[in-house]
Amino acid sequence: MAKKEFFNLWYSTRRPQWDTGQSPPLLLEFIANHPPGRALDLGCGTGTNVITLAKMGWEGVGVDFAKQAIVQARQKARAESVKAQFRAGDVTRIRFPPQSFDLILDWGCFQGMEAGREIYAQRISRWLAPGGWFLLYSLKYQPDIKEFGIREEDLSLFAALKLIRRYDGFNEGPVTRPSMWLEFFKEP
Ligand SMILES: C[S@@+](CC[C@H](N)C(=O)[O-])C[C@H]1O[C@@H](n2cnc3c(N)ncnc32)[C@H](O)[C@@H]1O
Repeated sequence: MAKKEFFNLWYSTRRPQWDTGQSPPLLLEFIANHPPGRALDLGCGTGTNVITLAKMGWEGVGVDFAKQAIVQARQKARAESVKAQFRAGDVTRIRFPPQSFDLILDWGCFQGMEAGREIYAQRISRWLAPGGWFLLYSLKYQPDIKEFGIREEDLSLFAALKLIRRYDGFNEGPVTRPSMWLEFFKEP
């Protein structure tokens, strides 16, 4: 089954374990320390982080290729009377004009991408406004789970941006796995 159908089925049949309805503390810390602007969440799932950002004054757009996730994200935003935009699409294909965003967030999308990582990284550099931020959370690559996770060498994909902060930790969940949180900055 293709990844897109796999995720769509998951959202259609049950609440995935990552869909906690809570934004991660590292994102909340970022929001507390930066003025609002335009934000894009790649692989936004059911929209929790876009809704959090919108509540804090950000203009948020979420993209996910699982249509069912986008349906739920729109329902959640409506239920909370939050203005946010959600688009169904693949992050390696969707189009935005250059310099559209002050913040691009990826919580768990890049880690599962088997192809298109170079295109993905190029787009982020293009879509970010000067002085913008790219925040990436990913589980780390482990040889027992092939084609999944971020490898050290993947960091060079984002060489056009400046790595400001890196936090190595572990995910919370039924299986503990090493993870990485990266904060990149696009210099003006
Ligand atoms: C682990 S989930 C995380 C979802 C959300 N960020 C969260 O924290 O709840 C990964 C998400 O990325 C989406 N995704 C994976 N590859 C994608 C792609 N190439 N384009 C768009 N969405 C993608 C999946 O459908 C899924 O919703």
